[in-house]
Amino acid sequence: MSAFSVVDIIVAKRDNVPLSDEQIAWVLDAYVSGEVADEQMSALLMAIVFRGLSAAELARWTDQMIASGETLDLQGLSRPSVDKHSTGGVGDKISLILAPLVAACGASVPQLSGRGLGHTGGTLDKLESIPGWRATLSNEEIRTQLESVGAVICAAGDGLAPADRKLYALRDVTGTVESIPLISASIMSKKIAEGTSALVLDVKVGRGAFMKQLDQARELAQTMVDLGEGHGVKTLAQLTAMDTPLGVAVGNGLEVTESVDVLRGGGPSDIRELTLALARSMVSLVGIDVDPETKLDDGSAYETYCAMIRAQGGDPEALMPVAQMRQVITANDYGVVNSLDAMSVGLTAWRLGAGRARKEDPVSAAAGVRVLVREGEEVEKGQPLFELHADDDAHLARGLETIKDAITWGSEPFAPRPLLLELVGAR
Ligand code: URA
Repeated sequence: MSAFSVVDIIVAKRDNVPLSDEQIAWVLDAYVSGEVADEQMSALLMAIVFRGLSAAELARWTDQMIASGETLDLQGLSRPSVDKHSTGGVGDKISLILAPLVAACGASVPQLSGRGLGHTGGTLDKLESIPGWRATLSNEEIRTQLESVGAVICAAGDGLAPADRKLYALRDVTGTVESIPLISASIMSKKIAEGTSALVLDVKVGRGAFMKQLDQARELAQTMVDLGEGHGVKTLAQLTAMDTPLGVAVGNGLEVTESVDVLRGGGPSDIRELTLALARSMVSLVGIDVDPETKLDDGSAYETYCAMIRAQGGDPEALMPVAQMRQVITANDYGVVNSLDAMSVGLTAWRLGAGRARKEDPVSAAAGVRVLVREGEEVEKGQPLFELHADDDAHLARGLETIKDAITWGSEPFAPRPLLLELVGAR
């Protein structure tokens, strides 16, 4: 005989009656154990999409997700731990640069990451383009590497917040992803379970992001900051624009090459600007008085990157796989790039083979798009706009179908729109 009736819990949430701590703990446990069925949890999730969760309900929901698995113990490391999480963007390779950069400043950076699904790429998929690189580490290996190198980017083990994995898969197929409390609990349960002492969130806003409006993004950021602080994790959020792709490269190996360019002092200016802003927030959260720009410019961030890749079996100097098929798309006429849509470029990279439709699908290391123009730029007839990379004709043809929707044209040139929008949380 169950302690509670799941139908009563669904009905309570549907009718806006607050759920008790005991009801939340029970329903999540019963869902993980299989006692509550997918269709019942789907109904509850949909009621939460419409009714939300109060701060008290959300804290309890998050606690229960954390308690569903193990937590990593990062106490006793010789350097303070600080991590970053991005809500996901097209061309977002910031983690590859940021983790070694912040480690070079004196922090330890445990970046437990995931694989991509849909139009945004996963950090692990990008790093797996490097020959020999290994995503799966034991908890002991994570600690050892944090002590020796200062940075780890690896797969979040199955043991961390397993309730989230089951819930997220269900949300994905029931139209219940877009809920501020559910997104917050999902992200923060994994980050809190990872054991970091401080966290900087990069919350994306715009056409290529979950949150299309600034006020929604602000609410998501504040909700996650409050959850983090409530669990003893110093948390700060940076709101950043995600209307247009970040940098030039979109696609796994292409993004690794671009990250290395930035680590060696070059690369696109938007990537450098965002990386440095996040790095400054991370070091200041843990009281390190170093300007990250000095570590990018003196080569120590690149050295730390090489050590981090080698520690996980990869060759940081290996050339990235090259696509068999390449096609350059040129402008039909003179014009100004009025908008360059992140979502269309992300979708194109995905169709070219850089992303997966189901989580067990393989991804191509070589496929992707190089974006050769920026918003506001004047373009001459015949000027290259995009370079498409694919492993075969069929993928190339699929990418060609969507890239044509990526640009809208105007006539007046303008300066790039700001990337860094707002900070949320105490400094
Ligand atoms: N990323 C997550 O980890 N969870 C969500 O709910 C949304 C994005």
